[in-house]
Amino acid sequence: MTIDVLTLFPEMIEQALSHSIPARAQKAGLVDIRAHQLRSWAIDRHGTVDDTPYGGGPGMVMRVDVAHAALSAIDHTHRAHRIMLSPDGDQLDQGLVKELSQKKKLILLCGRYEGFDARIEKYIDQKVSIGPYVLSGGELPALVIIDALTRLIPGVLGNQESLKDETFEDNLSDYPQFTRPEKYRGMTVPEVLLSGHHAEITKWRRSQRQEI
Ligand code: ADE
Repeated sequence: MTIDVLTLFPEMIEQALSHSIPARAQKAGLVDIRAHQLRSWAIDRHGTVDDTPYGGGPGMVMRVDVAHAALSAIDHTHRAHRIMLSPDGDQLDQGLVKELSQKKKLILLCGRYEGFDARIEKYIDQKVSIGPYVLSGGELPALVIIDALTRLIPGVLGNQESLKDETFEDNLSDYPQFTRPEKYRGMTVPEVLLSGHHAEITKWRRSQRQEI
């Protein structure tokens, strides 16, 4: 799978993905993530990517011509699923993460300021929000999507079993986990987990998962 991120802050994306599971997935060649500087598609030599809104009002609006040029350059045949991060988009949940993890090519377009010129919608396939609140840009939402979906790519997690029982699978929460010390400030570990009785442990864990 390849993920291209279009942003004014490519270092934010690269830095955040240089750790833990996303870093491992990239090293193993299971996902190829590239962060592109939107400014490199600016049409003037000052690298202008935004301008004041028609009709007046506060803030700056990101230019459609710059974003369109970037999209065309990295995906000229429009094979990729193009997503723009936006607080008014489809709300991200585990179902949407799964759907996106099946795509071969994804593009994540990150806005800043007051967002993009509305005409950008002609060139994207979907708007996605990570929640009902407003962030200062699309970079953190893009990272949330990348993190959530890379861990679903087969081979990324060391143990695929760990996906099976996790929270949101079958609309059930994960079961509670315990490790050493066996006793902590008067709190003990459920007896059954110390029993070595695998069938009983499985039964107990199943009983602990709750509808969400
Ligand atoms: N950009 C600003 N806020 C956002 C949000 N909640 N989700 C996606 N993109 C955003």
